[in-house]
Amino acid sequence: GIDIGKLRGESGLITLDPGFKNTGSTTSAITYLDGEKGILRYRGYSIEELAEKSTFLEVSYLLIYGQLPTLAQLTDFQNQIKVHTLVHEDIKKILEGFPSNSHPMGVLSSLVTSLTAFYPESLDPNRSADKVNLSIIRILAKMPTFAAWAYKNEVGHPVNYPDNSLNYCSNFLKMMFALPAAPYEVDPVIANALDKLLILHADHEQNCSTSTVRVVGSSQASLYASISAGINALWGPLHGGANSAVINMLENIKKDGGDTKKWMAKAKDKDDPFRLMGFGHRVYKNFDPRARIIKKAADDVLDKLGVNDPILDIAKGLEEVALNDDYFVERKLYPNVDFYSGIIYRALGIPVDMFTVMFALGRLPGWIAQWKEMRENHEPIGRPRQIYVGENLRSYVDMKNR
Ligand code: ACO
Repeated sequence: GIDIGKLRGESGLITLDPGFKNTGSTTSAITYLDGEKGILRYRGYSIEELAEKSTFLEVSYLLIYGQLPTLAQLTDFQNQIKVHTLVHEDIKKILEGFPSNSHPMGVLSSLVTSLTAFYPESLDPNRSADKVNLSIIRILAKMPTFAAWAYKNEVGHPVNYPDNSLNYCSNFLKMMFALPAAPYEVDPVIANALDKLLILHADHEQNCSTSTVRVVGSSQASLYASISAGINALWGPLHGGANSAVINMLENIKKDGGDTKKWMAKAKDKDDPFRLMGFGHRVYKNFDPRARIIKKAADDVLDKLGVNDPILDIAKGLEEVALNDDYFVERKLYPNVDFYSGIIYRALGIPVDMFTVMFALGRLPGWIAQWKEMRENHEPIGRPRQIYVGENLRSYVDMKNR
């Protein structure tokens, strides 16, 4: 019980809303989301239309600058990104300092933070819009390089340098998978599927990692420091880490004989901390529109690649049981984007530890757009209040008397 008197601080009434379930932190013109109706739009364009017709870099431009680019603007944007894909050679030394089994999310956030050292001008909160823009281009260009290198470090392979004759996703795939001793051709089916996945993850208004980016940026910390904080916030299993947790869970169900009802019972048991990974969402209380698009894409990609994944059958079985189960129906728990994204990533040959890194690659333009909006709106420093429930004033007790 909270003493209502304590909600009155010296500067007026304080609202208490743990998890900010009903508290808006900002106004925003970037992403529109209606959780009841299952609507998601970037800058007014529906996610369904963007996933079908656009590309990830075009969507990035849209999110960051507010409008769809003309052909000349898009070409210029893509070319600028290509110019900056290479990273300073000393960053390789930082990478080499990590043990080879380091989780790629930790490596990714560290390499992003390291950009503050290579581009110290990014620390100046009063730098010109052109210079801010250069930081934006740099991080968009270098993230795939960092992501692929974090993976190479994990598996103990030599890193690949960017190939700027390729598009954004193909370049990333080549840096991830090419080995010195073997030729590597990017499969366009895989590159296109990845592009679509990144579009679906590109923004999602004030989620945990995006709010983190805005709050960190509100102290006038640099774009790189703010994005690095966002990557760490995304890492947790209740947020971006859920996509790897889903695959681990499906593997366990498979090993256990595929009894989906048994696992469902476990998820409903309040004495068991287990939750059905990939189900439920803070905002979507009807369906997650991204999950719908991804579910279809998973079928298409597996079909085109000729992959027959028993995990997908378990996923479909689980979904069917959940959609007809009172516990899940009453609590409005439906599959979220992470439920199917892991299955596609697996079919594309991406290892489980890298799933959340893939999410970070996709969410990057959203984080940038939200950071930029927050700065352009001159938002005040993020600093929530609290309700103190600790001890009243006490006298210090000498050590000998404790
Ligand atoms: N399995 C079983 N029960 C669940 C699940 C689940 N996946 N999700 C929610 N519940 C139950 C809770 O136990 C609670 O039950 P109660 O009312 O009887 O106590 C009720 O549903 C409401 O759950 P909350 O945790 O209060 O909902 P909240 O909005 O805080 O959490 C969240 C949303 C974190 C996504 C939650 O549904 C969850 O943990 N899901 C599994 C992890 C996951 O898939 N995360 C990815 C989110 S999407 C993304 O980041 C892209």
